[in-house]
Amino acid sequence: MEKYFIHTRKRAGNDIEHLGDIAPVDLAPLKDCLYRRKSVRKYQNKAVEPEIIDKIINFVKQVKCLHPSIKFAVEVIDKKDYKAPFTWLPQQAIAFFSTVRTGYLENAGFIMQQIELYIQSLGLGACYLGIGKPDLHIRDHALKQGDMEYVIMLAFGYPQGEQFRQEKDFNRKPMVKISDAYDEKLFPARFAPSSINSQPWYFTHVGANVHMFCVWHGVLKVLSLTDLNHIDCGIALANLYISNPTRFTFTKKKPAPERENYVYIGTIKF
Ligand SMILES: Cc1cc2nc3c(=O)[nH]c(=O)nc-3n(C[C@H](O)[C@H](O)[C@H](O)COP(=O)(O)O)c2cc1C
Repeated sequence: MEKYFIHTRKRAGNDIEHLGDIAPVDLAPLKDCLYRRKSVRKYQNKAVEPEIIDKIINFVKQVKCLHPSIKFAVEVIDKKDYKAPFTWLPQQAIAFFSTVRTGYLENAGFIMQQIELYIQSLGLGACYLGIGKPDLHIRDHALKQGDMEYVIMLAFGYPQGEQFRQEKDFNRKPMVKISDAYDEKLFPARFAPSSINSQPWYFTHVGANVHMFCVWHGVLKVLSLTDLNHIDCGIALANLYISNPTRFTFTKKKPAPERENYVYIGTIKF
């Protein structure tokens, strides 16, 4: 299969990224999928056609970044070019690569979730793969070409059976467990997928600012879980952006707000 490599536009870092100025693609179908999507783990034995891969790639070219100065790339890879310990894997996956800089994991989740919802809006199923990785020659290519490391994969393909579910069938924490105040604007974050469905985010309100925190596992916990949780937070932020693209802003406050047993991710206004 042909390989697609996409490099992000670079932008010099100011720490306020206003993401809502231009909505380059119609986000309405993505917003619609946000409340219906599920991880799909049953696929037809059929590859996604090159024209549809092209559509996905074109979408990625216009995707919004949380940190536009962080270089990233995605690559569509065949099942034979990655390893993951699951029997249900579809024929293709999208692998995400990035330079390793502060915020790159949240940036990866933020971008991949837009791709996930776009893929779902095309009638395809998808499932993140936190366990598994592309083969060495693919990771080596990203490293040599752009000093980028592999971050996360999203398996995708034609679903066998139901692709969507109803809102009531989401298994998610109640608002009181993820926020210090009842806030309907945070609802889209509740629906976000997360590794082992841990939903590691917590929001606090200070005036118009909403601070986002991620569960801190302590120094002894495995690094990979911490990494996945930061990707999860980026995914939840993408859901908030997609449901409110013209008003969503994300900043990193200094000094960072604090919350016991949590790590500060950033501050949203919407
Ligand atoms: C970063 C990340 C990594 C994940 N890794 C895996 C995985 O390796 N295998 C798997 O079957 N599901 C994986 N998932 C899917 C989650 O288990 C799933 O999102 C969660 O249980 C919520 O279910 P839902 O996506 O159907 O709403 C992952 C999800 C995220 C966000």
